[in-house]
Amino acid sequence: MTVSSAPGKVYLFGEHAVVYGEPAVPCAIEVRARVGVERRDDSKLRVHADDLSLDGFTVEYGGDADGRPDIDVSESLLVAATQYVDSAIEQVRDVTGEEDVGFDVTIESDIPLGAGLGSSAAVVVAAIDAGTRALGTTLEPAELAERAYRTEYDVQDGQASRADTFCSATGGAVRVEGDDCRSLDAPDLPIVIGFDGGAGETGELVAGVRGLREEYEFAADTVETVGDVVRNGEQALAAGDVEELGRLMNFNHGLLSALGVSSRSLDTMVWAARDAGAYGAKLTGAGGGGCIVALDPTDETETALSFTPGCEDAFRAELAEEGVRRIE
Ligand code: MEV
Repeated sequence: MTVSSAPGKVYLFGEHAVVYGEPAVPCAIEVRARVGVERRDDSKLRVHADDLSLDGFTVEYGGDADGRPDIDVSESLLVAATQYVDSAIEQVRDVTGEEDVGFDVTIESDIPLGAGLGSSAAVVVAAIDAGTRALGTTLEPAELAERAYRTEYDVQDGQASRADTFCSATGGAVRVEGDDCRSLDAPDLPIVIGFDGGAGETGELVAGVRGLREEYEFAADTVETVGDVVRNGEQALAAGDVEELGRLMNFNHGLLSALGVSSRSLDTMVWAARDAGAYGAKLTGAGGGGCIVALDPTDETETALSFTPGCEDAFRAELAEEGVRRIE
């Protein structure tokens, strides 16, 4: 078995606007997805997953004449997870030239699915890394990030930025603007996550922002304003000014709310964090449900969130310095 892991991420700033060429600053966190692969002697793909915050499941691919997945799980999130793996293994086949290779794939993830913590990017990065290594090829992080981006781009019908996949492949805090991806120096950030137990539909949420942007000039201006907040955020990050980071995160959340991607539970958690004294709080990722990220060096926010109706889980997350990790 060849096993790789990759971290999830939070967006300090810039989700959604990054899709339209504005900069974004995601930050990898020490919550990981692990993917193990074993080469098969046929060309099938068999995916087994436990701990995806849902019941374990097993899916076999490649059963019919067209090689289409033979999926017998109904939960759309699980089906989506297997689509990411299917597409990731296509990249493995493409990189290595082994077009007919099949794998048994095992996924274990501590990252809730579709909740704004980059679960799909982490699974894709780990799957491509393990798959290529199993065939004797070790990719550099930049190439791994590019292949993972192409996977997300395909599965999400062209609605993906490079932010999640680059951050998961390289670790640390990163800045992404269009095709330009680079690592940033970051202080030790006091990150607290609140999770409402739900998930957002990334494709629908991205399409919603696109619609608003096309309909209203002020919505397009709002997206550009997110870019301004991000540029200020970069300066605060470079200066290690955590209080200013929090203020700017509050601003970013307000703009995301205006663009229609927050939800009652996300807003409730954001306000609970602010009331508890967090420097700032915002939703992270596509929104619609899922997670918020707050900055608070004390235990107050975590405690307050754990008593907040609608918050299913609250936890502290360390910044993940390391991106993809080669386990065996
Ligand atoms: C999703 O994690 C972040 C979005 O900006 C989409 C993307 O960047 O691909 C909403």
